[in-house]
Amino acid sequence: NFPMLSLQNTYTTAEIEAFVQRCQQLLDTDKIQYLVELKFDGVSISLRYKNNRLNKAITRGDGAVGDDVTMNILQVKDIPKYIFKPANFPVEEFEVRGEVFMTRHNFAEINNQQILKNQKVFSNPRNLASGTLKLLDPEEVARRPLNFFAYYLLTKEPVLSDLSTNLELMKTMGFPINSNFKLCNSVTEILEFIDEWKDKRDELPYNIDGLVIKVNSIKQQQELGYIARFPRWAIAYKYSAEQVETKLLDITYQVGRTGIVSPVAELEPVELSQTIVKRATLHNEDFIKENDFRVGDYVFVEKGGEIIPK
Ligand code: IVH
Repeated sequence: NFPMLSLQNTYTTAEIEAFVQRCQQLLDTDKIQYLVELKFDGVSISLRYKNNRLNKAITRGDGAVGDDVTMNILQVKDIPKYIFKPANFPVEEFEVRGEVFMTRHNFAEINNQQILKNQKVFSNPRNLASGTLKLLDPEEVARRPLNFFAYYLLTKEPVLSDLSTNLELMKTMGFPINSNFKLCNSVTEILEFIDEWKDKRDELPYNIDGLVIKVNSIKQQQELGYIARFPRWAIAYKYSAEQVETKLLDITYQVGRTGIVSPVAELEPVELSQTIVKRATLHNEDFIKENDFRVGDYVFVEKGGEIIPK
């Protein structure tokens, strides 16, 4: 039973440099490989396998104790229920950690259905994924397509050497692995990868909220250890949402298909993440009141994971 940990968030190049420097100092070497992965914006989950069979699935919850969501996880097609263990992995029990998420396309489909059924819409794919795992009706879960990426393998026996080999091993066993990772040997390579994904992330069919930078060698990870709930061998890098300032020209009201009226900001056109934005959602009257939006104000617009700018 290993605790499920959290990651320290960083936002700047300087913080990445400091992380690499600290690893080098503590390990007393500059021969460190870093595995840089996408940070999937979903629900983290622990899958326990016993004798080649999925035995238990638990969410992280508040860190220490999570919810048992085994019944619902059985409905997630991406997650293998039985696995084939290769000869070089002779363990009876192991644990796979990863992220359950929903694609933006499936999120939009389900929200459309919610509107048609006159039911509440979900605010983003992560909330929908997490809400789905909490449902008590596995048949309803089956109607809400969830996906999964595995990123971490744990065993009691010390048979694992590094994260990249483990990704390969999990792939062999039938787990979905995201191929957009890079093994980096220097800060420069890490920063290049961060820069590469800054715009490319918009083209992914699912949301990511940044990247995760991890020391690849498990031996070095053990040497680095943990501080409280954070590993000293990994950090998250978050892209701050791109925002632009523009003028609020008017507030109009849009009637949806089901008759729901929602306020819309009519904006002086501005370029944002390679598109021209003229309108943004104002969600509801409370949102306007809380922010005291008035025609003529200068406002910030951003694109979150959603299609409509905020
Ligand atoms: S590794 C001790 N890798 O981010 C290392 N986490 O902020 C633990 N996450 O709870 C996590 N993508 O739910 C790792 N490629 C990835 C990830 C990832 C998403 C989530 C995970 C974790 C949270 C920490």
